[in-house]
Amino acid sequence: MQITPRSELQLTSFFKSAPLTLSARTHSTIYSSVINSSLANSSASSRSTIKPSRITMTLICSVVLFSYGIHARAAAFDYFQALPEQPLIPDDNPLTRDKISLGKKLFFDKRLSVNNRLSCNNCHGFSARDNAPAVTTGASGKPGKRNPPTLLNIGLQTVLYWDGRSSRLEDQAIDHLMDPDIMGNKTGKALIERLSGDKQYVQLFMQAFDSAHAIKMQNIAKALASFQRALMTPNSPFDRFIKGDGKAISKKARHGMQLFNDTGCLACHFGVNFAGPAPGPALGMGDGFYELFPNNLGSSYDKSHRLTNDIGRFEYTKNTGDKYLWRVPPLRNIALTAPYFHNGSAKTLHEAVTIMAKTQTNKTLSKNDIDAIVEFLKTLTGDTPAVLKN
Ligand code: HEC
Ligand code: HEC
Repeated sequence: MQITPRSELQLTSFFKSAPLTLSARTHSTIYSSVINSSLANSSASSRSTIKPSRITMTLICSVVLFSYGIHARAAAFDYFQALPEQPLIPDDNPLTRDKISLGKKLFFDKRLSVNNRLSCNNCHGFSARDNAPAVTTGASGKPGKRNPPTLLNIGLQTVLYWDGRSSRLEDQAIDHLMDPDIMGNKTGKALIERLSGDKQYVQLFMQAFDSAHAIKMQNIAKALASFQRALMTPNSPFDRFIKGDGKAISKKARHGMQLFNDTGCLACHFGVNFAGPAPGPALGMGDGFYELFPNNLGSSYDKSHRLTNDIGRFEYTKNTGDKYLWRVPPLRNIALTAPYFHNGSAKTLHEAVTIMAKTQTNKTLSKNDIDAIVEFLKTLTGDTPAVLKN
């Protein structure tokens, strides 16, 4: 495999206050010709064995490269990576069948919200969301300002929320349960009492946590997290393609995949979830990957799509350098999760790709190129997770 150093994307900050020293802002190498040279032909067989150990090794390399800003010719990092078989599973919450099925029941249960009106599924439904609202309204009745991300493959994410302000699904669940603008519970006690009144829950919690008094906030969170970790979507055409089935995606999608590289999308959207670094020993949970959005300020989209109204990660860290920094979001199943961006301002995938090209790479793509990239992005739709089928 030929790896040549690519000319670096100009991720220059137009926001004077934002330093360029953050973690993995710019990247070293990308395959010169990802599609034609290797993936679709003979060397595909060697890639069909992407194993966790390899991902781990390459991650270590990439982290080293990123930290020191070295442009290495490392035969190191596979920017395009197949979906791993396992999500990230923390030691203190091993994945069990009982916790997954309890978590599923909780996820669809409106009693989780203070007014018994909202389940997690109300905002994070799994079917294609063509007419979904840009932002959601929680228990407080006050419309929020952000779009609910898809939870498919969320178990691969090292940073949670658009601004990365949470790092563990367990903590995130408690955060949401108590958030007045989401589930609105004022105390955990009332929620625990509601659930304890249901004999089936008493039984299911006991079974999942091996304890008679298991209905606790911590365990509610652990069960919800376990269910979400089971939301992996294997077997996408893209995965089949990079594992060696050259026919799994169309010629147009292959062209789009090449453009995704050549345009510079891959510099930010790479790795197992197209969201930058994947979890592994070299990256702790919560180590993140953030980028400016818009990276090139001044396009007409700033206004038309209100791209600078929300200051992003700054709101949480209060570091001036974090203004307009956003987590690089995953792109798997992106064809199912309209509308797009933190404020849901892009209604279609075509629109989102057009804006990304302009704001992030300062390129105006032709309609054909956008079509091809969208065709490629559609190949990232995997199988419905088994846990949702029954
Ligand atoms: C009222 C709508 C609403 C409900 C109900 C809701 N969420 Fe969310 N959720 C959101 C929004 C909006 C965000 C993004 C917030 C942000 O990034 O600032 C989010 C973010 C998340 C994230 C982070 C996703 C990512 O890609 O980082 C997870 C995980 C999550 N929610 C799980 C849940 C669970 C579990 C429940 C049920 C306990 C739930 N949500 C209920 C609206 C909702
Ligand atoms: C400099 C880094 C960077 C580059 C380059 C980049 N993106 Fe993004 N992308 C982001 C960030 C950050 C966001 C989140 C924007 C937000 O917070 O609303 C995003 C969001 C997206 C979304 C919407 C995701 C969602 O769930 O709503 C799509 C689709 C997308 N990018 C595709 C692309 C494509 C296609 C390209 C190449 C034309 C590209 N990106 C180039 C950083 C980048």
